[in-house]
Amino acid sequence: MTDTLTPVLSANWADERAWKITNYERRGGYQALRKALKMTPDEVINEVKDSGLRGRGGAGFPTGMKWSFVPQDNPNPKYLVVNADESEPGTCKDIPLMMANPHVLVEGIIISAYAIRSKFAFIYIRGEVLHVIRRLQQAVREAYSAGYLGKNILGTGHDLDLVVHAGAGAYICGEETALLDSLEGRRGQPRLRPPFPAVAGLYASPTVVNNVESIASVPAIIDKGAGWFQSMGTEKSKGHGIFSLSGHVAKPGQFEAPLGITLRQLIDLAGGMRDGHELKFFTPGGSSTQILTSEHLDMPLDFESVMSAGSLLGTRALQIFDETTSVVRTTLRWIEFYKHESCGKCTPCREGNWWLVQMLKKFEAGQAEEGDIEKMLDVSENIGGRSFCALADGAVACVQSAVKEFRSEFEAGYHTPAWELFPYAKSALFPVKTAGGHA
Ligand SMILES: Cc1cc2nc3c(=O)[nH]c(=O)nc-3n(C[C@H](O)[C@H](O)[C@H](O)COP(=O)(O)O)c2cc1C
Ligand code: SF4
Repeated sequence: MTDTLTPVLSANWADERAWKITNYERRGGYQALRKALKMTPDEVINEVKDSGLRGRGGAGFPTGMKWSFVPQDNPNPKYLVVNADESEPGTCKDIPLMMANPHVLVEGIIISAYAIRSKFAFIYIRGEVLHVIRRLQQAVREAYSAGYLGKNILGTGHDLDLVVHAGAGAYICGEETALLDSLEGRRGQPRLRPPFPAVAGLYASPTVVNNVESIASVPAIIDKGAGWFQSMGTEKSKGHGIFSLSGHVAKPGQFEAPLGITLRQLIDLAGGMRDGHELKFFTPGGSSTQILTSEHLDMPLDFESVMSAGSLLGTRALQIFDETTSVVRTTLRWIEFYKHESCGKCTPCREGNWWLVQMLKKFEAGQAEEGDIEKMLDVSENIGGRSFCALADGAVACVQSAVKEFRSEFEAGYHTPAWELFPYAKSALFPVKTAGGHA
């Protein structure tokens, strides 16, 4: 068993009522805030810059640099918006983090808002997770009562109001500009960029949008210093992160480890593959990232290494599939999701994902025809890079990589149904009702 976990955000998850403010404070919670408020805002930004923290929401943009783009000579209010929409298939780290340790996020928000000189912050959270919304609301109430939020925080003259805003459950509202439209009360659809949110975001004012885990990482950086954070991870991917393992492993769950850990180590930590089975393929960072295979078991899971393997680290959502899984069926399920979640603003994504579903259904049923693989790749090429936002690029990434790695399975779709080659009951983790002998 490898011993490579670095519990920071998850250190208190097993504590009795870890989410209560008194229990968080007992472990040193809100000390980083006291320290930050004695620093200048620019010093806080520089500490985060020096730490090398890169956005944990998928793209890996340097967090401190993003904060420094906020034009301080702009007379409009500055806003901090935390992206807690977490809706990508496989991605499941922010929800447990907010459930178990909401105060690390609240503390991170207060420090980050201070750094960018914001007096108003939002947590935009997906509407389905009512239990998490309630937990956050309770944490925010506790923070107001303790004097960490509101007017004149801890007697420093700094003010901050924090609102928990529930979305209505659309994946596209995780895209930062669609999120801002939704927060303004409009239908959530991506905006044209530039201008970027840092310049003209919420209510056309300077806005920083950051992922939950990015902001929650800030208190420890301020408390222990940039050097401490830099000491973990790889050359260009610093620090720790939550890796979410789901699917065909013995013990799925969240594993907080330094960036650069390998999948082999993570599977080991998750108790191995389920009994008697072996790894077939996995997503490194959610369904929007190209699938990889057992060839990549020893690849360091950092931004650069995963990119050179032809995929993306994304949200470190490692969906693990064993040899009982049909790649065709899996790809179809993902594309059904993207078709459903496409906001409809642009034609290639709205129409293209619909067509991909029709084609993949034919492959699944063993009714595809010679040439359909090329047709599907052609449709994919006309979606990726030709649509308005990255939802479409993520959708075709799974189709293109599935064909690249497992072309013969698609070729089998010219004559044999996927449910004959890979009976669903063998790969299903839970008993399922099947229609017509297949699911
Ligand atoms: C379709 C789509 C969905 C997204 N969903 C999320 C999400 O749920 N949470 C998130 O933090 N970022 C999501 N992102 C990325 C955000 O647009 C943005 O890059 C991120 O919130 C920036 O935060 P970070 O710099 O801290 O990573 C999504 C992007 C796209 C294109
Ligand atoms: S790519 Fe898809 S989700 Fe993005 S704007 Fe176009 S239709 Fe909407």
